[in-house]
Amino acid sequence: MVMLDTKQLNIIKEKLYEYCGIYLGDSKLTMIKNRIYHLMRETQVSDINTLLAGLDRNEKIQQSFINSFTTNKTDFFREDFHFQDMIDRLLPLLFRQNQPIKIFCCASSTGQEPYSIAMSVLYAKKIYSSNVPVQIIATDIDTDVLQEAKEGVYTIDFKVEKFPNWIDISEYFDALDDGKNPHVRMFKVKDKLKSMITFRQLNLFNKRYPFTNGEFDVLFCRNVLIYFKQEDQQEILKRLIDTLRIDGTFYLGHSESLYQWADKFEKLGNKIFIKTKV
Ligand SMILES: C[S@@+](CC[C@H](N)C(=O)[O-])C[C@H]1O[C@@H](n2cnc3c(N)ncnc32)[C@H](O)[C@@H]1O
Repeated sequence: MVMLDTKQLNIIKEKLYEYCGIYLGDSKLTMIKNRIYHLMRETQVSDINTLLAGLDRNEKIQQSFINSFTTNKTDFFREDFHFQDMIDRLLPLLFRQNQPIKIFCCASSTGQEPYSIAMSVLYAKKIYSSNVPVQIIATDIDTDVLQEAKEGVYTIDFKVEKFPNWIDISEYFDALDDGKNPHVRMFKVKDKLKSMITFRQLNLFNKRYPFTNGEFDVLFCRNVLIYFKQEDQQEILKRLIDTLRIDGTFYLGHSESLYQWADKFEKLGNKIFIKTKV
C-alpha cells in the first residue's frame, strides 16, 4: 500500500478536481491509496512526488491519472425503463417525423449503454418498419473505457445482467466462445450496432462542448453527475441541456436531479423529461 502525507493527498484531490471536476470527499483515503498504487505500477513511476510533479507536465501520466480515478460501473439495459420508453413512446414519435435522429450519450463508460440504445433503435425500426437514419454520439473522459467500448467485446453473465425479453442475442452479438457455459458467454457486438455509434472523448467539466444548441433529439446523462459538486452539476446540466432540442427527451440517472433547470421540462416520471423551453 502507498503511504500518502496530507500534502500529497491534497495535491491528488486538487488535481483530479482541476482536470475533470471529480470531487473526492474526506472518507476516500483507502480508495485513493489503492488507485495511486495501481497508477504507479501502470506508469512505472515508483516515487509518488515524481508522479505528482509529472501530472501537469506529462499528458500521458495525466490521462492515466484521470482514468484511474473514474468509476466505470455500467450494465447493458441498466435502468431498463428508459429503453422501454424509447421503444414504446419516443421512437415511434420520432420515426413519424421522418428526420434523421441524433442521440447523445455522455459518460458512456465501456459502451453497454450506447449499445443498449442502438439495440433498442434497431428493434424499434424493425417493429415500426422505419428506415430513418439514427446516429449515436457516445462520449466519456476515460480513454481506457472508450477503447473497450470501440472494441465491443464483452463477457456477459446472464445470471447478473438482465436483457429484455425482445432481445435475440444472436441478432446483435457474435459469439467468441464455444458456448459450453450457457450462463457466462463472451461476445463481440455486430458491426450493424458499431456503425451507429461514434465514440469520442469529452470532458463534461470543459466550459464548452463541441456541439451546437439543439443538436440532439435525445440525451442520456446517467450516473455521472453524482461524482461532481452540486454547483458543478448545475453548470454541466446547463451545457448538456443546451445541446438538446425543444421536444427532445432527457434520460437522467435514478439518483440525479435537474435542479433549477427542471422548469424547462415536462416530467414523465422515471427520470424521463421532455424539453419544453430554451
Ligand atoms: C458510473 S459510470 C456510468 C456509465 C453509464 N452512464 C451508466 O449509467 O451505466 C460513470 C462514467 O462517467 C465518466 N466520467 C467521470 N467524470 C467525467 C467527466 N468529467 N467527463 C466525462 N465523463 C466522465 C467515467 O469515466 C465513467 O465511465
